[in-house]
Amino acid sequence: MLDVICVCGARPNFMKIAPVVDALARVPSVRTRLVHTGQHYDERMSRLFFGDLNIPEPDVNLEVGSGSHAVQTADVMIRFEPVCLGQRPDWVVVVGDVNSTLACALVATKLGIKVAHVEAGLRSFDRTMPEEINRIMTDAISDLLFVSEPSGVENLRTEGVPDEKVHLVGNVMIDTLLRCRARADESKVLENLGVQSKGYAAVTLHRPSNVDRPEAFASILDALEVISRDIPVIFPIHPRSKKNIEAMSLSGRVESIPRLHLIDPLGYLDFMKLMADAAVVLTDSGGIQEETTILEVPCLTLRENTERPITITHGTNRLTGNATDAILSAYRDVRDNALPASSPPDLWDGRAAERIVDCLTGGGLSGARPAGGGGAQIASTGSSESPDRR
Ligand code: UD1
Repeated sequence: MLDVICVCGARPNFMKIAPVVDALARVPSVRTRLVHTGQHYDERMSRLFFGDLNIPEPDVNLEVGSGSHAVQTADVMIRFEPVCLGQRPDWVVVVGDVNSTLACALVATKLGIKVAHVEAGLRSFDRTMPEEINRIMTDAISDLLFVSEPSGVENLRTEGVPDEKVHLVGNVMIDTLLRCRARADESKVLENLGVQSKGYAAVTLHRPSNVDRPEAFASILDALEVISRDIPVIFPIHPRSKKNIEAMSLSGRVESIPRLHLIDPLGYLDFMKLMADAAVVLTDSGGIQEETTILEVPCLTLRENTERPITITHGTNRLTGNATDAILSAYRDVRDNALPASSPPDLWDGRAAERIVDCLTGGGLSGARPAGGGGAQIASTGSSESPDRR
């Protein structure tokens, strides 16, 4: 029996861990336990996603909650160590780049437990982002690195990670998107908000570089005001951004823009519908850059860099930074010009989790190949699974 602990902690982890837990559950010789660190804990930042994505109830919730980076990371470590000591798993699987990812990887590896990192190798080359530190550190101590796009393989090679550890498997977040598309399509979110398909902009913002500095946030609001003269702007607001609007006395400014609608964070299915039917998405999220790539919706990323360059070369995503003029010029460009035709990135086909589980279990589900070996960087797309088994 192979014992595996899967870890999730914050909102963007839930859609990544869901297909991995599901694929592991289909291998009879594997026992899987799910640990939720509790980094995100609100109904709207956590619970809703478990329902929408049919993720089983976590076996353990560490209930760490919010705190400074040091406090949050340390709390996860302190609470995760006894879980590992008690259960002695063969593998700990961590996803993404949040504080919980690094904290659990660090605990496991020091106990001699093997670590698999899903969404390894992505690099923004911007060490002011806490996520970049989490990515570099987690990759350095992981035993298996599952990569979503070719840039990740190159980055890991440059950092000296041996090829045998690296597997280009595709994108687990896209597994979830493809699996949930039909259900998301039935969402009534557009009717509830009173907007028409392709007749609005959707916005998400939560990065410190955009929402912790009043000048940056105000500059983005100036752009949203101009866009809202064309189309309504729907902005499901992250708790961090909401707090900052109040703390930075920007509430009056927000209220002065009649067609800028701040709403509570949405669940996965409603948000996917909102994204899929938007005329344009403006965001600083990592995952949304990838989801809009598959949904073929123009995405303006309000950052100076991205760790997901394939979304740019694919043609749906562009970087604008947070200066008003730069956002507006990119907005006008996507408003007035159709997106270039392109096919989805290689291996973003709904089967990434199967390839991961295949590697972990030594061939249980399908045939993934390592990144090295005869120069083949791309894991097999072959699978014994039929898509309609899902
Ligand atoms: C975290 C991740 C980020 C990810 C984001 C998605 C790190 C370093 N950052 O950032 O990579 O993109 O989640 O949301 O791990 N809060 C609530 N309810 C919650 C969770 C948070 O109200 O359920 C509030 C708290 O006041 C907290 C603030 O939001 O102080 C920020 O939360 P935190 O988890 O520290 O970081 P995020 O900005 O959410």
